[in-house]
Amino acid sequence: SGASPLVIAIDGPAGAGKSTVGRALADRLGLEYLDTGAMYRAMTFAVQQRGVPEGDLADVAAVAPLVDIRIDDSTVTVDGVDATEAIRGRDVTEAVSQVAANPTVREVLVQRQRDWVADRDGGVVEGRDIGSVVFPDAALKLYVTASPRVRAERRVNQVGGDVDEVEASIIKRDRFDSSREHSPLTEATGSKVVDTTGMSIDEVVDHILELLEAAR
Ligand code: DC
Repeated sequence: SGASPLVIAIDGPAGAGKSTVGRALADRLGLEYLDTGAMYRAMTFAVQQRGVPEGDLADVAAVAPLVDIRIDDSTVTVDGVDATEAIRGRDVTEAVSQVAANPTVREVLVQRQRDWVADRDGGVVEGRDIGSVVFPDAALKLYVTASPRVRAERRVNQVGGDVDEVEASIIKRDRFDSSREHSPLTEATGSKVVDTTGMSIDEVVDHILELLEAAR
């Protein structure tokens, strides 16, 4: 329907290929792309910069609304500081699940995600709770996944490391993200499961475009 914004929600566990697929899909559709995981990472970076313990519910909640996050395609700026590399580093990666479990952080970032879409009349939005919480009425809701082994192998190919160790840490992070009280990672009602194990990016994107065609 022409008047309502076209939102494509992509959820799924870490390392399933969501970002690569999301960006490629946005390109093909002429839409902008929002990586909400980068927002949770940016918030974690800001909390750490201020010396606030990540697990301190009240202090993290007090900081969250004040943090200025700008995501400009490849650059992430937090309170005026370029944090593009830092948000992918070990310190942030190890603490982000905890910050993402803070209900005030989620409330603040969900509102900013809705504002982002409202400013653009749509977009491809990627995260963990996009189809379930942020945009339950999205035109297309995808749950992109792959086996933990394949996800670990892809990550190691990108950034190096030991496959067994990376696989173990992926399984651990999935378990935490799926079992948290607020907006756990889960398949949204009406979402289409896309298992990318053994598929190329082009194959995945073509498949999703077919799903979109069928959904409209
Ligand atoms: O996609 P990613 O690995 O960059 O996400 C970083 C963390 O943020 C991950 O632990 C899950 C969390 N996250 C979330 O809780 N909700 C989202 N919409 C996106 C990410």
